[in-house]
Amino acid sequence: MTMKKTTLALAAALLPLLAHAQDAQIESKVAALMKQMTVAEKVGQLHQISGRLVTGPTSSDYAATLADIRLGKVGSMLNVKGVADTRAIQALALQSRLHIPLLFGQDVIHGYHTVFPVPLGESASWDMEAIEQSAHIAAREAAAAGIHWTFAPMVDVARDPRWGRVMEGAGEDAFLGSAIARARVHGFQGKQLGATDSVMATAKHFAAYGAAVAGRDYNAVDMSNQQLFEVYLPPFKAALDAGAATFMNSFNTLNGIPATGNAFLQHDILKDSWNFKGFVVSDWGSVREMVPHGYASDLADASVKAINAGSDMDMESYAHIKHLEDAVKSGKVNMKTLDDAVQRILYKKFELGLFDDPYRYSVAAREKAVLADPSHRAAALDVAQKSLVLLKNGVAGAKPLPLSRAAQKIAVIGPLADARRDLEGGWVVEGDRAPVVSILEGIRSHAGKAEVSYAPACDTRCSGTEGFAEAVATASKADVVVLAVGETWDLSGEAKSRTDITLPGHQEQLFAALKATGKPIVVVMLAGRPLVFNTIAEQADAIVYAWFPGSEGGNAVANVLFGDYNPSAKLPITFPRSVGQIPLSYAQYNTGRPVTDEKNVVYKSAYIDSVNTPRYAFGHGLSYTDFKYSGLTVSSKEMSPSQQVTLSFDLANTGKAEGTEIVQLYLRDMVASVVRPVKELKGFQKIHLQAGEQRRVSFTIDRELLSFFNSQLVWGAEAGDFKLMVGSASDDIRLEGAVKLLPSK
Ligand code: BGC
Repeated sequence: MTMKKTTLALAAALLPLLAHAQDAQIESKVAALMKQMTVAEKVGQLHQISGRLVTGPTSSDYAATLADIRLGKVGSMLNVKGVADTRAIQALALQSRLHIPLLFGQDVIHGYHTVFPVPLGESASWDMEAIEQSAHIAAREAAAAGIHWTFAPMVDVARDPRWGRVMEGAGEDAFLGSAIARARVHGFQGKQLGATDSVMATAKHFAAYGAAVAGRDYNAVDMSNQQLFEVYLPPFKAALDAGAATFMNSFNTLNGIPATGNAFLQHDILKDSWNFKGFVVSDWGSVREMVPHGYASDLADASVKAINAGSDMDMESYAHIKHLEDAVKSGKVNMKTLDDAVQRILYKKFELGLFDDPYRYSVAAREKAVLADPSHRAAALDVAQKSLVLLKNGVAGAKPLPLSRAAQKIAVIGPLADARRDLEGGWVVEGDRAPVVSILEGIRSHAGKAEVSYAPACDTRCSGTEGFAEAVATASKADVVVLAVGETWDLSGEAKSRTDITLPGHQEQLFAALKATGKPIVVVMLAGRPLVFNTIAEQADAIVYAWFPGSEGGNAVANVLFGDYNPSAKLPITFPRSVGQIPLSYAQYNTGRPVTDEKNVVYKSAYIDSVNTPRYAFGHGLSYTDFKYSGLTVSSKEMSPSQQVTLSFDLANTGKAEGTEIVQLYLRDMVASVVRPVKELKGFQKIHLQAGEQRRVSFTIDRELLSFFNSQLVWGAEAGDFKLMVGSASDDIRLEGAVKLLPSK
């Protein structure tokens, strides 16, 4: 064990601990069942395999799998969905000696039938109700299709946009990420596990997968415990406190030890210190991968190392099913260890009600009705428009957005303008999904008296320039150009790391050709990650960052472009100017040589070929109206550890449109026993104001908010001065205050 238990115990004692009460009745049912089980049957419960979605319906493997299910050798399946299939396969499990039902898991990441924006996009809404609602609808649809369990939310903090999986998470920040983790778990699981409009959630990937070196997927992770505890673990703890039923471990090593075989993570932190009562599923093949990592000598050794380190269910490694029984017989794995893993899984099967009715999620009439529910599309539109970030609007005063619907000519141009699949993004698993509204279609149906023309200019990856002349001609005849560019859906996600995160193909060239027409250019950009697009950032007249916005993406974009929705989203992740700046986060350290003047950076912590600042900072996002911040007060200059202070200020909508501002509270602990970041997000509120309206906004600051992990990993606040900052973005602080924390008596 790499860390003293006492240290962890201290850290845990000071974190808000939630009692994970277990139901005594379920526990006794589990115990009674366990008494009847052979070792082989117990091992079967730890074996999770993929259904025909991956292996193919006619493959011999699949036939063998089905035979194994009847023998009680499979505890769970992924990639089996739909009422017909889940019923057919569950029926096989019920033929096994003890009739133990299967758990059906699936990657329901951002919708099932109705596709919502990718998680990073949704996170830009900073809207916990909308995010919870999105997860709830995804759960409702998936549960109606026989699924019990989603492998979501991904709560990995990610600060490297080269990593394709930044798309699946909530961005770079521990505080925002924790709030979103809670919202997603609540949304997926509802009020009670076992309700058939909910599924079990999975907090993944435990842990630190988002910090893969150089943004290369599956790469090693090497980080201090300080970083781990402060930045990477809080969203997991938040997911757990919100009741996450399961955790998934990860592919990466953490300081040399694969997460899947990592007892410090899974035992010391998760199961002991945090008192997690659910079960841990491995990532796909991650038990087996401990062999190439150089941590296990063979599959048998990997099985032993995984289960002894607290990884309960084996997803697709076939390690436990092949070797665990022998390992128990030879004493390499204690029966107690095996029993603990099996109990955790059986408990969830009882909790979901599967022993009472193994088919309770698989009801054909419900599947039909729920997947056709029109309110789901309305919710997808709501979240999508709340996720669109207005990065830029206007050069020198002239604001091209919102577009007018009066008689004018709008040229819609670009490889992604009429794309549909690219609006959905990765991780969409249902074959028969809700129809997607393209950007062009959305603009056409919202354009009023305006005349819309269209030219794609190139294929979706913009591999050639043959269509540019037609696109330029179309633009030349228009009053304004809407240019839809970006990444295609398959460039972001798992195993989609990129060293070059500029626009693929000839898209920059297309922009230049259109710019030369002199027409105002409004760029709509699709992507699953922050891209680098310096020329467009400097020269476009307006930019809307649309992520992959889902089934209703085209309508959401049109609502924003025509001003039916006043954009309110804020970036949940920093946009660098170049790959050379990565990793780049607003919550950086000051260093001993901070840059105070960009014109004088010699022997400062700087680059000789770039400024330090990002292209767009964390928290950035514009509106069609203006917000004025004034009159900051802090209720007291000093506070004792048991007191709290209130920070208040006036927020006024000084523009002409109603709008929503996401006000952000940051703080800095000026001097501490461990240096603190120059800014840390510690609060945010979404405030809707009519034009001309003003409201007083308040945040409460208590000791908890001022706390951090010291060098002994003890959570607490240290006496001293704190700078308080309120603003519209991490680089747009409008008001500052201060408070002094007094020593404990
Ligand atoms: C991914 C997981 C996912 C699993 C099952 C893995 O490759 O890393 O996030 O849940 O596959 O599809």
